[in-house]
Amino acid sequence: MADLNWKTGITNIKPGSIRVRGYDITDVMANLSYAETVYLILKGELPSKAEAELMNAILVASIDHGATPPSVLGTRTVMSGGNSLNAAIAGGVLVIGDTHGGAIEQSARIMQEWAGKEGSAESLALELVGWLKANKKRMPGFGHRLHKVDPRTAKLFEIAQQHGYNGRHIELCLAIEKMLEQQLGRALPINVDGAIAAVISDMGFDWRLGKGFFIISRVPGLVAHAYEEMTREKPMRKLGPLSFEYDGPDDRKISE
Ligand SMILES: CC(C)(COP(=O)(O)OP(=O)(O)OC[C@H]1O[C@@H](n2cnc3c(N)ncnc32)[C@H](O)[C@@H]1OP(=O)(O)O)[C@@H](O)C(=O)NCCC(=O)NCCS
Repeated sequence: MADLNWKTGITNIKPGSIRVRGYDITDVMANLSYAETVYLILKGELPSKAEAELMNAILVASIDHGATPPSVLGTRTVMSGGNSLNAAIAGGVLVIGDTHGGAIEQSARIMQEWAGKEGSAESLALELVGWLKANKKRMPGFGHRLHKVDPRTAKLFEIAQQHGYNGRHIELCLAIEKMLEQQLGRALPINVDGAIAAVISDMGFDWRLGKGFFIISRVPGLVAHAYEEMTREKPMRKLGPLSFEYDGPDDRKISE
């Protein structure tokens, strides 16, 4: 018998049987959505209805943000250099970092650290923003190159509110947004990373999983960009973040 010197609690496989966190994969396939299954594999338990809806909204929110984000340019550049689909996706994922997508991680770390302290959300936000200012640091999860109000943030908080999911981290996040404007004299809206950071923190996820949420959400978008680059563009073209034009479908609605 092999020397057993490590353990895993994620998936148990035997001939003819695959059990994710104890649940038969065929049962999961028939009864859970993709978002619910992501929750199950990361958290180890089934989500409540509210958690399932929030997880779905989180995964949908960051699926794509057009052709300008660094990770998309990374994917397209690798593809344009004459590489495979998997190399292009890996290239895009490698571009995700503390200021792009990965801001969820550091934002959640700070929120989890500060939400655990005594005091009102407002007083903690005041102290935190004072510290950021004194140390010339930016608050991850706030500010956006394009959006004055990030529509994804508002929707995520709306869904959370509908389910009474107004925990301490969301409260602190909203207080930080107000305090940044008051103390720095500049509106720095909560971006989608900041909103996801607050919501996953209220859902009890460890901040060290933060970048994972963005990667899981963004990879389908990167696959679409890699494929479009492969099938529509010349190899090794001049690839600029502003030299493109959108020619996809006109605005439309899912239901009238
Ligand atoms: C996203 C981001 C790069 C957009 O930046 P931008 O709109 O191009 O603004 P700039 O980087 O030019 O910064 C303008 C000013 O706002 C300040 N600022 C921007 N974001 C800030 C933040 N999150 N916290 C504190 N100050 C911030 C900068 O320090 C700068 O101040 P200065 O003019 O006194 O030097 C920026 O807001 C940021 O770094 N946010 C934190 C990282 C993050 O959340 N990334 C995820 C993006 S979805």
